[in-house]
Amino acid sequence: MTQVLNGTLVKDVLLKNVQAEIEDLKKQTGKNPGLAVILVGDNAASKVYVGHKKKTCESIGITSFEYLLNSETSESELIAVIHKLNNDKTVHGILLQLPLPKHLDSDKMLQLISPEKDVDGFHPINVGKLLIGLDTFKSCTPYGVCELLKYYNIDTAGKHVVIIGRSNIVGKPLAAMLMQKSTPGNATVTVCHSQTPNIAEITKQADILIAAIGVPNYVKRDMIKREAIVIDVGMNRIVDNENPTKSRLVGDVDYNDVFDKCAAITPVPGGIGPLTITMLMKNTLQSFKNNLKIT
Ligand code: GUN
Repeated sequence: MTQVLNGTLVKDVLLKNVQAEIEDLKKQTGKNPGLAVILVGDNAASKVYVGHKKKTCESIGITSFEYLLNSETSESELIAVIHKLNNDKTVHGILLQLPLPKHLDSDKMLQLISPEKDVDGFHPINVGKLLIGLDTFKSCTPYGVCELLKYYNIDTAGKHVVIIGRSNIVGKPLAAMLMQKSTPGNATVTVCHSQTPNIAEITKQADILIAAIGVPNYVKRDMIKREAIVIDVGMNRIVDNENPTKSRLVGDVDYNDVFDKCAAITPVPGGIGPLTITMLMKNTLQSFKNNLKIT
């Protein structure tokens, strides 16, 4: 029997804990965490994400600050907003929603966010700390993958984890997390990408296969080992063949094709997706606690 790994359930459990901790700290200190989200331009998917972030913040007691800047915002205007938020004591987390319009350099802008408020875990200082195994803000989607594995007691020690995708947001930080001397961790990690020949030869060796490439239904039955654990990070909108006027969300894994061959799998939607915002909330709470000097 294939086990379906329910990210929505894990989200509910984790968010409840975050909310309870925020309520406790508010009683003790009279203060609560604040998260600022900066959105430049009008990318439709980004607007949806930002809306979800705001709603989740409000539901668990985090103050949400939204900076919705128009697509012509200049570099110096964006820098001014980042500096203002770096210096605002009521803001514990700053998130610059990606992608930015083409005229803005995301790497340059991300480096201006104070590493102490970088709840996305994208600042080079935090990425470097993660790589060498120091405590830091972890990038939210890979952090969510780790929390899901932990919740379901999926042991990664000594396992061969194959990650398809080498993005800075998912593939690279996830590889760093799973190779650490930690739980989850201690895995042998292979990262495949667009220049890897014969990907299926490698994915078939995976005890745990993680797909994060943004190609709808890419992973097929003949690419996985029997009884593999399959984690699908993909979120792709495609035209619904049964109703061509509508779109539907699919992952990077052909779920129905692989289902009965694997031991466990995350669905899309309802798998890793709900955990990204959850981990953002956890990071924001952590930043608030760091600020209060609570461990
Ligand atoms: N765009 C897509 N995913 C993310 C994310 O996790 N953080 C930010 N800032 N932008 C994104």
